[in-house]
Amino acid sequence: MLARITAEIAQNGGWISFARYMELALHAPGGYYAATKKFGAGGDFVTAPELGRLFGRTLSRQLKALLHEDQSILEIGAGSGALAETILNELRCEYLILETSPELRARQRERLGDRVTWLDSLPQRFRGVIVANEVVDAMPVHAVAWRAQGIMERGVAADGDKLFWKDRPASGALLEEAKKIMPPIPYESEIGLAGRAWMRTLAERLEEGAIFVIDYGFPRHEYYHPERAAGTLMCHHRHRAHADVFARPGREDLTAHVDFSALALAAHEAGLEVLGYATQAQFLVNCGITDVLGEANVENALHYAPLAAEASKLLSPAEMGELFKVLAVGRTSGRGPTRSLRGFSRGDRSHTL
Ligand SMILES: C[S@@+](CC[C@H](N)C(=O)[O-])C[C@H]1O[C@@H](n2cnc3c(N)ncnc32)[C@H](O)[C@@H]1O
Repeated sequence: MLARITAEIAQNGGWISFARYMELALHAPGGYYAATKKFGAGGDFVTAPELGRLFGRTLSRQLKALLHEDQSILEIGAGSGALAETILNELRCEYLILETSPELRARQRERLGDRVTWLDSLPQRFRGVIVANEVVDAMPVHAVAWRAQGIMERGVAADGDKLFWKDRPASGALLEEAKKIMPPIPYESEIGLAGRAWMRTLAERLEEGAIFVIDYGFPRHEYYHPERAAGTLMCHHRHRAHADVFARPGREDLTAHVDFSALALAAHEAGLEVLGYATQAQFLVNCGITDVLGEANVENALHYAPLAAEASKLLSPAEMGELFKVLAVGRTSGRGPTRSLRGFSRGDRSHTL
């Protein structure tokens, strides 16, 4: 992967954008999502559906309330297939997956068999509920620096095998977006143009239903907060996080936090409404995670202790509860969902977006 990146830098006059670097390192053949063992205890990170079935069972309660009989669920970026498996145990409906990694698609097929249909691209028209858990953080972001001399795009250059940052004046759509932010200088951060374009396309194709994006991130005023002056880029390798984005391209996960305001705006511009925005903890509590937990046999410590630990990981502010957010957007016309979704009945923070 390093050889491929340095070759592309050379072909491109000595510089590629950080977004292109991230795309190659994560999604190109031989890149992180195509090749490495990522999930679970032996991998690099654990996502909510990988912890157990509590997250999927609780989310299913919200999905069940929304879905009409003739509608489908579309999961984007389904990882090991854990969430799909749990939801399919809870609900009867058509289940579609759009997965860009051939390696993960094969794993999902092994686990889920003919209960799921895999798509090669986004459907032209869709009715139902779309779910993307920890997918947008893996989409390429542009790196930007606001400096005294102006707004710069941070890209990647190479000296032999050594990769390093190199700035250029920002231009085009990136410059326009960067001008809207204007944090106190000097300041470095990311702008997720790909995530916005993805949301716009999904929103345009959603005829009826809702889109749930669950991920770690903030509304814009928190994202570009003066205290976050070094941005949000992070690598994940064997359950350790670090910020050296050039350390092991293609061999470790590389992510940016999600600007939820930007996603909400992109959906809104395509004609959708924000149905709700809440922390993961608040959303799961509103959906009845304690009832799901209550169905377990409290007397049986062997069974109950891991469930309680899972709930604590999902809900605790020190773990996933506060940093992870749930954004739902959708069409409220026709048979579309109303704005009073169960998951946002309390603690809805849509006003902060
Ligand atoms: C961090 S993993 C999360 C997997 C799973 N949703 C979970 O929560 O365990 C990111 C997933 O998104 C997929 N992915 C990344 N970008 C994608 C895109 N643009 N379209 C579809 N899948 C994508 C990856 O291949 C991987 O399956």
